[in-house]
Amino acid sequence: MTESLTGSDRGKYAAAKAALEYIKPGMKVGLGTGSTAAWFVQQLGNLVNNEGLEIIGVPTSTRTRDLAASLNIPLTTLEEAGWLDITVDGADEFDANLNLIKGGGGALLQEKIVASASNQMLVISDASKQVDVLGAFPLPIEVVKFGWRSTESTVEEVLEGADVAQRRISLREENGAPYVTDEGHYILDLHLNRIGDPKGLAEALNRIPGVVETGLFVVMADTVLVGYDNGEVHVYDRDRGDLGRHKVHMPGKNSLYVPGA
Ligand code: 5RP
Repeated sequence: MTESLTGSDRGKYAAAKAALEYIKPGMKVGLGTGSTAAWFVQQLGNLVNNEGLEIIGVPTSTRTRDLAASLNIPLTTLEEAGWLDITVDGADEFDANLNLIKGGGGALLQEKIVASASNQMLVISDASKQVDVLGAFPLPIEVVKFGWRSTESTVEEVLEGADVAQRRISLREENGAPYVTDEGHYILDLHLNRIGDPKGLAEALNRIPGVVETGLFVVMADTVLVGYDNGEVHVYDRDRGDLGRHKVHMPGKNSLYVPGA
């Protein structure tokens, strides 16, 4: 199966593998959502099942909970866990300040709550997510269903005064109907192309009553691991800067399980 993996899958796998180095016995671990996070969950499951690693996971979505449960990873809720040692999650984009756009997979609210309740947020990514300026990826914002069109109008007004390159808004859909998040909300995708001031935009959007959260994760990621198809992983740390590359062991042919999340 390794042969059928694209370069970006191999990069995601490598970053996820490097993230395992941060996981220590006894930790409470936030489990992110998306294809990159799924690689991490799958490899974490291997350590739990085959090497007796004792951790407890807190999933950030029903999708991740189902995947982790299928791998027999011990799970709890954030309410039970209280505070986590680390959260490992993917991203749709990250910039040089390690600010992120997240929510492409629709789980941004639980992801942000879990990451905010963690000592450390570790982001795993392939190289395609690294950008000079955030915004080419549409920015997801989670809004309550009630009055969502009014909320959308207020978002439009906020965008008029924002340092962005485009101002198109779309309601996220799935199978011809509005996409509904795990928390029962809608998602508006903001097509902005360039976000000049991520912190200012996040604050302005969060002041709108119907907006529950935005996919802008500003000053939240502590470390970003960028994986490459040759097994190299580049480490960027918010406090310590560019920590360079190291290599992780990539599995041989026919030995990869491709997670379905
Ligand atoms: C889900 C997310 C994901 O982390 C993000 O969309 C990246 O996904 P992938 O690893 O599949 O590229 O924020 O809400």
